[in-house]
Formats: sequence, structure tokens, C-alpha cells
Amino acid sequence: MSTVITNGTVVTASGTSRADIRIEGGKISAIGLGLATEADTIIDAAGRHLLPGGIDVHTHLSMPSMGTVTCDDFYTGHLAAVMGGTTSHIDFCLQPKGSSLKSALDTWHAKAEGKALIDYGFHLIITDLTEEVLEEIATLPSLGVTSIKLFMAYKGSLQINDTTLFRCLERARDAGIMTLVHAENGDAIELLVQEALERGQRAPIYHALTRPPQLEAEATGRAIALAEVLDAPLYVVHLTCEQALGRVREAQARGARVWGETCTHYLFFTKDDLERADFEGAKFVCSPPLREVQDQAALWAGLRDNSLSVVSTDHCPFTFDPQKMVGRDDFSLIPNGVPGIEDRMMAVHQAGVNGGHFDLERFVALTATNPARLFGLEGVKGSLAVGYDADIVVWDLQQAHTISNETNHGATDYTLYEGMNVTGKPVMALIRGEVVMDHGQLETAPGSGQFLHRAQV
Ligand code: URP
Ligand code: ZN
Ligand code: ZN
Ligand code: ZN
Repeated sequence: MSTVITNGTVVTASGTSRADIRIEGGKISAIGLGLATEADTIIDAAGRHLLPGGIDVHTHLSMPSMGTVTCDDFYTGHLAAVMGGTTSHIDFCLQPKGSSLKSALDTWHAKAEGKALIDYGFHLIITDLTEEVLEEIATLPSLGVTSIKLFMAYKGSLQINDTTLFRCLERARDAGIMTLVHAENGDAIELLVQEALERGQRAPIYHALTRPPQLEAEATGRAIALAEVLDAPLYVVHLTCEQALGRVREAQARGARVWGETCTHYLFFTKDDLERADFEGAKFVCSPPLREVQDQAALWAGLRDNSLSVVSTDHCPFTFDPQKMVGRDDFSLIPNGVPGIEDRMMAVHQAGVNGGHFDLERFVALTATNPARLFGLEGVKGSLAVGYDADIVVWDLQQAHTISNETNHGATDYTLYEGMNVTGKPVMALIRGEVVMDHGQLETAPGSGQFLHRAQV
């Protein structure tokens, strides 16, 4: 059985051309002109662009956090993802204190079991580094997991110290594993938060004011220094500000194996959004916090000049009511995190490509090709080339859409992008050659998404 997508314009990170794509056995078997003459199924993509399915390497589905659990599971999160043109993601599997890494992974596999609509991998968040866990790191690649994550913030819960970071970086390097860091100085933040609360400063804006950009830049620089000493690969997640970006750029100029990611919301919102009336600012509470307009400009520049390699979502959804409401009288109790898995591709395409920051090829690089390359999926996902999985998004550059929670598919009761007009929308998505979304209709069943056994880095 073969499928040919005909009459479309194929976009990769390195070029754009009119070509047909033939799919056999779930993989791309040919790309070229005139392929539609011999196919069992033909999909006409006239006037459309064919992009590699979006890959979101930073999500938190069904994750316990701050006394609650993120409200999207592997069904609702995947439904939102696929409607927005994302066909794979890597979720953060959290090691509960005292647990082995294997048991944490078993828990995460169970969360996805029977629900998944898109393909998914796991990064492993290490919260409790015992000697056994240290030894276990080397076994992760055999379980398909080739990235670990450490938190330098969230004191008293997720935060690790520099000893743990250094030891993990070394073990990860030896095992062909990428280390990810949430880089903020959690010790200083904890003091600033307590002082603010003592002064009676309780509104959402104090979330941003107690996590200043210097503390992100400091932690970013510290993580880079530790990684450089060890020549270990390091990926800085959700980078938000000019100062932290400077640390990444300097390291890259020295030849260090350091990469940076930013997330959609840092490109669109500022800390002023935390002051929205009626506690709506709580919808924008995430860590690191939203910054200033000048940081947004720096991030766009970083995405253009490749000092930032990826735009992910940090999709960490909580409902406004009741979940965010818990912090009504104390910003430090507002669950940290924002939704975005459905919005990323359209919003970044709108502001990035239509807004003139970069072209469609760079958009593909940032949303699919680089995420795949950095996380052990090169040759399988993230590009349109012979031998790759046929994960294809049919993108209509002309289609207008207004983003709204009314039409979004996740379990949150809001989207940050409410009312945003975009031109350019995914109208169809295929995963491993199967149509999974067609003009907003889901065409696949829960359980069809597969676990991504990723290669070493
Ligand atoms: O506020 C955020 N980003 N919550 C999710 C966990 C994390 O820090 O990535
Ligand atoms: Zn074009
Ligand atoms: Zn984080
Ligand atoms: Zn996150």
C-alpha cells in the first residue's frame, strides 16, 4: 500500500520545493515530481505546504506539581497537540524522591498507555541522586531515554545542588545522554519570595519580581561552567532573557556543547501580563517568569542567529479555576506553568514567519528538525526525507484563524493567545503515514501514538 501526497510544496530546514511525497510502510519512500501516477491513495495538497510534523520537546502531561496535577493527560494533551500541528513530543518523567529511575519510567509509560494519539518520548527529571540512581543513569539509553533534567530552582522540592548537577553531567556525558537544566538560582529566589510575603506583597506580579533575570543568567552561567569543565552536552530549557542568552552565546563561541531553547509564551508576553485585572495575571505565572519587551527582541534575534535552537512550549497546564485560584491570596501558591501545546506552531508561524523574523525553513528547523536532531531522533523524525517517518503536516499559509479557548482542545479553561489572529494553519496531519487529523477532525484512536526509543547523543 502506498500513499502519495501530490501538488504540495515541501519545506525542510534547508530548502523549499514543489514535489510529491510517496509513503510506504509508514515511511517516506520517495520525494520528487510525478509520483502520483502509481499510488493506492492520493492526497491532493494543491496550494498547501508540507512541513515535518511539529516536535515539542518540553511538556508536562499528568505531572504532579505544587499539590496538584497538570490538567492535560496523554489524551487531551495529544488531542490539542495534533490539532495544532504537533505530531511528537518529549514529556518530563518525574522521579519521586526515593524512587528508582526505572520505576519512574514505568509510571510515565502507564500514564500514556491506551491514551496516546501522537508519538512520545520521555526525559527523566532526577530529584534524588542516590548512589543507585547514579549507577542507573547508564542504563537509560537501553530504555530509550537519552536525556535527563535537573532543576536548579524550586527549593525544598525539585531543586538539586551543584554536586548533584556535576555528577549527573559527568555520568550523562559518559552514557551519551543530554543533560537539561532549569536554570534559576533557587536559593536566592526562596529568600526573595519569603521577604516579599513578609512585606505583604501577594499579587501575581511578585512572582516575576522575586525571580529577576540576573538569577536566571547566574544559574545558566554556572551550569555552563560545570558542563564545560566536563565537556558534557548541556541544553538550557526555557531561556527567557537577554542576559542568560548572552551566557549561552559566549559558551557557543568557545566551542562548548551548549544549546538553548525558548518557549512560545516568552516571545509574546511580558511581566506586565501578570498585572491583568481580576487575578487573570495568574494565568501567566510560569518559571522562569515572563520578562520585558527587550528580552523578547533578544530571543527573536537568538532564534534567527541560531544561538537558540528550539521553540518548545513548556506545556504545563493548570485550569484558572480552580487550580490557579489556589494562589488568590499568595502568589507563591499559584501552580507554575502555562498551556501552549496547541498554540505553538500557529503562534510562532504568525509572529516568526508572517512577522518577518525568519523564513518557513527556519520555522521548520526550530519546531521540528533541531528538536529531533538534539534529542536522538535524527533520521526518524523532524524532516521530510527518504527513510524518515511520514510525519507530515499539511499547512495552509492562507487560512485565517482566531485562537480561542472555545475552539482549542486541551483541558485548560483558557489560552494565553485568546483572540490572536493568525494566517497559516495546519489542515491535515499524518503520523507514520496515517492521517490522524483532517480539517480539525481527529482521525485516529487513543493508543495509536507510539513510544519513541531515542538514540544516544
Ligand atoms: O513554570 C513552569 N515552567 N512549570 C513547569 C516546570 C518547569 O519548570 O519546567
Ligand atoms: Zn512557499
Ligand atoms: Zn523548568
Ligand atoms: Zn517545564
